[in-house]
Amino acid sequence: MSKRQILITSALPYANGPIHLGHLLEYIQTDIWSRFQKGRGHECYYVCADDAHGTPIMLKAQQQGISPEQMIAQTSIEHQADFQEFGIVFDQYHSTHSPENQELANLIYQRLDTAGHIKRKTISQLFDPEKNMFLPDRFIKGDCPKCGALDQNGDSCDVCGATYSPTDVKNPRSVISGATPVLKDSEHFFFDLPAFEQMLKDWTRSGSLQEEMANKLQEWFTDGLQMWDISRDAPYFGFEIPGAPNKFFYVWLDAPIGYLASFKALCKRQGIDFDAFWSKNSEAEVYHFIGKDIIYFHSLFWPAMLEGAGFRKPNAVYAHGFVTVNGAKMSKSKGTFIKARTYLDHLNPEYLRYYFASKLTSAITDLDLNLDDFAQKVNADLVGKVVNIASRCAGFITKRFDSTLASSLTEPELFSEFTEAGERIASHYEKRDYARAIRDIMALADKANQYIDAKAPWVLVKDDSKQQEAHDVCSMGLNLFRVLMHYLSPVLPQMTAATQAFLQDHFGWHNYQQPLLSHRIEPFKALMQRVDPTKVAAMLEASKESLQPQSEQATTAATVSQTTPAKTTQAIEPIADTINIDDFAKIDLRIARIAHAEPVEGADKLIRLELDIGSETRQVFAGIKSAYQPADLIGRYTVMVANLAPRKMRFGLSEGMVLAAGPGGNELFILSPDSGATAGMRVK
Ligand code: MSP
Ligand code: ZN
Repeated sequence: MSKRQILITSALPYANGPIHLGHLLEYIQTDIWSRFQKGRGHECYYVCADDAHGTPIMLKAQQQGISPEQMIAQTSIEHQADFQEFGIVFDQYHSTHSPENQELANLIYQRLDTAGHIKRKTISQLFDPEKNMFLPDRFIKGDCPKCGALDQNGDSCDVCGATYSPTDVKNPRSVISGATPVLKDSEHFFFDLPAFEQMLKDWTRSGSLQEEMANKLQEWFTDGLQMWDISRDAPYFGFEIPGAPNKFFYVWLDAPIGYLASFKALCKRQGIDFDAFWSKNSEAEVYHFIGKDIIYFHSLFWPAMLEGAGFRKPNAVYAHGFVTVNGAKMSKSKGTFIKARTYLDHLNPEYLRYYFASKLTSAITDLDLNLDDFAQKVNADLVGKVVNIASRCAGFITKRFDSTLASSLTEPELFSEFTEAGERIASHYEKRDYARAIRDIMALADKANQYIDAKAPWVLVKDDSKQQEAHDVCSMGLNLFRVLMHYLSPVLPQMTAATQAFLQDHFGWHNYQQPLLSHRIEPFKALMQRVDPTKVAAMLEASKESLQPQSEQATTAATVSQTTPAKTTQAIEPIADTINIDDFAKIDLRIARIAHAEPVEGADKLIRLELDIGSETRQVFAGIKSAYQPADLIGRYTVMVANLAPRKMRFGLSEGMVLAAGPGGNELFILSPDSGATAGMRVK
């Protein structure tokens, strides 16, 4: 197997909203592929970024009374925390509002312009005279020009289904100010997409595109390709076009360039050769994972831009379908518009990774998250089949056989059957047919359980003369379990780590064929709990609640909610649901001495803290800069959550959280213990 160079991306999520379960399908799909490729030993990078530009982001920041820069900084922290907790590991998580992206966007634009692919043309568009801005279609409402239905969208009617130009809408009004829009002329810049028609047709035929996607492209070719408007007038949150004051790149121009920019930042950090991946004659492989709604941008505009600017094109663009929940589009009122954070508050992220994997194929079909099926499948497959193998064998090894596996395999054919499935399963992963990989793995899990059922080690151990046989059977069982967990490792990183700790092993595609013999293991701990249906119900309930304005803003401590300005009148937050002492005991609070504190370059809300907790020093990024000077903190004692999962942030790893009260802004108050407390003491 020769070592491939592979660059993988997922679509860049917009920086004006939280990650939800629909998004997660894509990031989980891509992360599984990335883990698989890395596990196979390839040189593989997975990059992403926040998509930070555009009118909606500009307006939302205005609404919140903060700058767009502040808003996207906050969103980036939240997005990254969500991804990290779902086990989605990016080699680089960047932003389209970055110097790398501006440089590359300018470069690509200038190359396209020089080659004659940018045309200028004056067009007439609806303009909001109160807001002094041109209105994107979605910010215009009015009556349908075909059927007269009131209050329809600027470009389509929900009543009669007509589509039309916003300038044809009757009684138009601006959604932003309510004013009646007027027509106004402005010069726009257009990318000459039709000039790339032949190249795109060839690319469609040569590339490994999904069949549905190739068909879609065929339709678009038949309809005829159009010039693409890539400029927007000020006010706009984006990059100003070089040599064109007050004109900005349309967000979709610089968004895919964000893939390059993110990779460039990674290259700088790790000394990777950018050109080896992106020059015209590159031998590396590049794949974009996207949702079906953005195929047009990725299979027409993007390859054409790359071609026109002298870069290589992607090997393939892989589209997936949309997530529905319980058979319907995600709905805020039904509680099925589930945010990543709300899910994490209630359920184990690996359940979702497994469920999505078990249903994902390479086709562009929608995927239903049926919550009953979800609980049933996770419980039956992961808990009932896979973990069950280990839990039925491990205890005997620990208690009766000195925690050591037998010195030989008594059923080598059965073991070979398991290892020989490896390349077949690998090829399913490679083809993104995770559903088939999972089906094959579960069929093997059934075989392992049948073997254990037939041998019944729990009977053998009671018979003094059958101790060796019992030892052999349990050792076989654990070796089969190990091979299965290896196959599941791209899907279940957390459970894989726990399994490796339990088996005192580090398995991978290089060594899974060698069984563990005469090998010491650790005591077995439950590797996965069953899905608790009451928690699923609570998650749906909380998803309804999270619609109420600013519900979760006030609750989280210093690291996240710092950019909300202090409220003038402060309501006392209601007391949270009752927990029991065991719930509380899970939180390991420690007295920490602030050994060092300093500002963080590029993050005006954050302070980097080094916290001495006796046994070790932790780095924590705390969003308390609006209330504290770093120098004033050094030497103070405070309280930290010491067992919070570390978060990878743009600036480094944050290994815990300090606690603070208050609404934010300059009203943030960190805690201090009474004098006498020393670093490392547990708070309980
Ligand atoms: N910012 C653009 C992408 C720019 S890429 C250069 C965008 N952002 S998004 O936040 O709306 O969506 C990010 C990805 O999530 C897209 O690939 C989109 O298709 C996917 N999904 C968003 N909602 C989804 C579902 N309900 N189901 C599956 N995928 C979904 O588009
Ligand atoms: Zn109509």
